[in-house]
Amino acid sequence: MKKNWKSLHWMGIACALLLCAQGRAFAQTEVTGYWKFSSPTTGLDYLQLKQTGEAVTSVGRRALTGTLHDGKLHLATGTDANATTYDAVVKGDKFPATRVTHDGPWGGTDTGTLERVTNEEIHPTRLPLPDLRDLPDNGLVRTPPMGWNSWNKFHDRFDDATVRGMADAMVSSGMAKAGYTYIIVDEGWSSGRDANGKITGNARFPDMKALADYVHSKGLKIGIYSSPGPQVCGGYQGSYGHEEEDAQTFADWGYDYLKYDWCSAGGIYQSTWADLEGAYQKMGEALEKTRRPIVYSLCEYGAGDVWKWGAKAGGNLWRTTGDIADNWASMSRIGFAQPDIASNAQAGHWNDPDMLEVGNGGMTADEYRTHMSLWAMLRAPLIAGNDLRTMTEETKSILTNPDIIAIDQDLEAKPVQLLSREGTSEVLVRPLTGNAVAIGLFNRGDKPAEISFQWDSIHLFDNLGFGMRPPTVRDLWKHQEIPATGDTFTATVPPHGVVMLQTINGGRRR
Ligand code: GLA
Repeated sequence: MKKNWKSLHWMGIACALLLCAQGRAFAQTEVTGYWKFSSPTTGLDYLQLKQTGEAVTSVGRRALTGTLHDGKLHLATGTDANATTYDAVVKGDKFPATRVTHDGPWGGTDTGTLERVTNEEIHPTRLPLPDLRDLPDNGLVRTPPMGWNSWNKFHDRFDDATVRGMADAMVSSGMAKAGYTYIIVDEGWSSGRDANGKITGNARFPDMKALADYVHSKGLKIGIYSSPGPQVCGGYQGSYGHEEEDAQTFADWGYDYLKYDWCSAGGIYQSTWADLEGAYQKMGEALEKTRRPIVYSLCEYGAGDVWKWGAKAGGNLWRTTGDIADNWASMSRIGFAQPDIASNAQAGHWNDPDMLEVGNGGMTADEYRTHMSLWAMLRAPLIAGNDLRTMTEETKSILTNPDIIAIDQDLEAKPVQLLSREGTSEVLVRPLTGNAVAIGLFNRGDKPAEISFQWDSIHLFDNLGFGMRPPTVRDLWKHQEIPATGDTFTATVPPHGVVMLQTINGGRRR
């Protein structure tokens, strides 16, 4: 009996331990599901987690892996020292968490909250889109917009002071004088919505109106960034379901330009022409309703042949490609593919092959001259993406070359054309006002190349007629006039480089 009691006693303890272990297993929150990391500094970040045993991974865009062990959650984007990490003691559905990033000057420890959210918060139900119609032309940007945007250099790691500094530098460096006007705040400024549903800046952007006032006080214009989806690409607040309200807020704050990036809209709408156009038209209508002149920049990477309907949706410019990177392969792949769609650009409605990387350090000076020349030949928006406060004289001379900018901004509406392509040599030609012609001799190869064209082939573009040739051409990088002798023009073009010419108005018989 005694023995029995004893064994019962031990059985009881064993049972209690088992229950306790089970209890603990149950107490450890299962983290599978949707989570929102919010911090006053960086705003929101959504995570979709999947837990298997103690292993936790993230589903979707951000590849995080980690563990949930003894209630401690640790997630990381990789194993190297530069991985972004999340750490938290999981307790219920809302608890403090820290995120550590190593991303440029803003890397550091960010203390915030992890909170469980519903699928609907991340992927809300689809709201109706307007019936498609042609929006009236807002009359803005009759020549391609010129400015600066934060993304290429800073990603979302920048603040109000960075933007003010860039406005100062735009003026002091001579960029403003050269024609650069818009200072565009890309992803990273928004936080969430206040109790009235009004979009708010995060701790790095405490007063978006004051920022606009400052930029205006420098004689410049200012741009802002949002998305037709609930979040922009990096998780900050977007405009879904608040389009009219946000357009009005941007107008009230004094913004002159909106870049509207598809991002999470892909989780709600289809990537069909109708949905894309409808979603962009919705914001186009909202901007129109504010009656403030706001340049409307569509950013959906060229989906649904945006160049065929972007103007109808109210767009002043539309991205024609995925994101540019600061290297020759990316820039040249994008740039040399653009002449095919060049005829879709018209005054006030521009193809946008993405922002400039000039001065960011990933290309040689010759490659950056090619970048700038190609964008000018395409009549592309010239939106610098470097740190204007610290640029070298060489970078400045590339970005502010008045002859190249004049080609970009020329009012003649005829598109660029490919005159010849032989191996890695391409000659692009564009008619300019006053019967002049811009000619770009591009060497895509990695050795110097002799590139030629015949004067008679140019007369298809300048209305001067056969048998005529301009007395001189101007070399737009050497800033020299060159006599146009003979039937053929030949130049030696450096690897990945360019010779840019412009015929001087008028001609004489040969
Ligand atoms: C997309 C856009 C970029 C930039 C980032 C911000 O990738 O194409 O230009 O705005 O989003 O996340």
